Amino acid sequence: MPPIKKLEKDKKKPIKAPVVEVPKKKVKAAPELLRGFRDILPEEQPRWDLVQDTVRQLADAYSFGRVELPILERTELFIRTVGKQTDIVEKEMYAFEDAAGEKVALRPEATASIARTYINHGMLNLPQPVKLWYWGPMFRHDRPQAGRYRQFNQFGFEVIGVEDPIVDAQLIIIATQLFRDLGIDVTIQINSIGTPEMRQAYLAELVSYFRPYRSQLSDDDKRRLQKNPLRILDSKDPAVQELLAGAPQIIDWLSEPAKQHFMKVLEFLDEMEVPYVLNPHLVRGLDYYTHTVFEIWEAGDEGEHAQNALGGGGRYDQLIEILGGRPETPACGFAVGVERVVKALAQRGIANEAKNKPKVFFAQLGDAARRSGLRIFEDFRKQGISVAEAFGKSALKAQLEVANKLDVDLTLILGQKEVLDGTIIIRDMELGAQEIVDSSKIVELVKKRLDKKAGIVEEPLPVIGPSAP
Ligand code: HAM
Repeated sequence: MPPIKKLEKDKKKPIKAPVVEVPKKKVKAAPELLRGFRDILPEEQPRWDLVQDTVRQLADAYSFGRVELPILERTELFIRTVGKQTDIVEKEMYAFEDAAGEKVALRPEATASIARTYINHGMLNLPQPVKLWYWGPMFRHDRPQAGRYRQFNQFGFEVIGVEDPIVDAQLIIIATQLFRDLGIDVTIQINSIGTPEMRQAYLAELVSYFRPYRSQLSDDDKRRLQKNPLRILDSKDPAVQELLAGAPQIIDWLSEPAKQHFMKVLEFLDEMEVPYVLNPHLVRGLDYYTHTVFEIWEAGDEGEHAQNALGGGGRYDQLIEILGGRPETPACGFAVGVERVVKALAQRGIANEAKNKPKVFFAQLGDAARRSGLRIFEDFRKQGISVAEAFGKSALKAQLEVANKLDVDLTLILGQKEVLDGTIIIRDMELGAQEIVDSSKIVELVKKRLDKKAGIVEEPLPVIGPSAP
């Protein structure tokens, strides 16, 4: 038996409530965007809409048909066309095996798919040229920086089946016109790189020109010179750029017909007063080009062109044949990076506001008013008038604050009483004046008031003759 003293001591001990562990809520971080990927938010849409509307109008005017191409293609398609030794295929492609073990890639560009489409759908049997345009996302696992993303959007125009230099010129004219319509000054950088056959002798000459300077070249440029010497012309290294001034120029290696083709393209451009710069170092980063190559640069952007071309393109007379299509199917096209165009618009303050910004706000007080509101929205939609609301708020003051922020012209106020009376209040946000009107005529009345604010005046009836005294 324990000593009594000890027992008493134990008794006095307060009984502790068991500690129940409440599991702490883990704070979860929202998943971040992948590097080089971005969301395009509503406030940016007006510019995207402007670009798309302008592109669509031009495509219609020049009778191009739209194609929607798949985003995923066989990796092989790009290896065979863009080229095994290009940066795009070698370093930047999102290529993987799908669940069935098929080697697939997120498309890094769309010209290869266009050529595949032309062959797959027997378009050689259509009247030539076949003129197609597209718009959509492309993927390149490039080093992200200003104006360079891993997912970006391109639109492109392609003309297949005609060799005449007028096709090259017309595409360049379309590109120039597009930027004129958008209010962006551009210059066309242009060159001709002949055919792979013509290039052989030139490339040998180029390699031997650089041989004495090999030690001065970066590893990247050394590799280029060995694997894809034409790309040395595109080097960003200032030392190489200096050396290029004395390097042989491809134009001197072109055959007579190739020179003639290029001269004709330039003549057409002169005739249409399209500003261009002959750029003997322009070679482009894709292997399928033959003859004319060009890029669209923002005027005055000559220094930073390498990353910032708005668009680029050229002839690809051998691409269809490379993919197993009919030999000698000539083609030419260009593509433009939409993000870069949108950025140029933003820098100029173009298309800051949405075209269909709501001019009317609907404020409601009580359940019956909210219910009527649903019908009112439908009535306005049918007339093409967009209406904003703040269904999350019930106080009129709070709703009017939102209406003010949205900078609408008119606010419609509907309360319990108005619902019962079949009326609605129209508040002129600028004047602060309110009037009670018949709710069945609301759309018509709002339309009239908006027209008046926009300065659209109803035509008075024509006077037929002098009125009777
Ligand atoms: P590209 O020069 O590779 O040509 O791309 C065309 C345009 O897409 C570029 O001028 C640029 O505006 C945009 N772009 C390219 N990469 C990125 C990037 N990482 N981030 C943002 N924008 C980018 C082609 O893709 C050819 N398929 C053009 C063509 C059509 N050639 C004949 N037909």
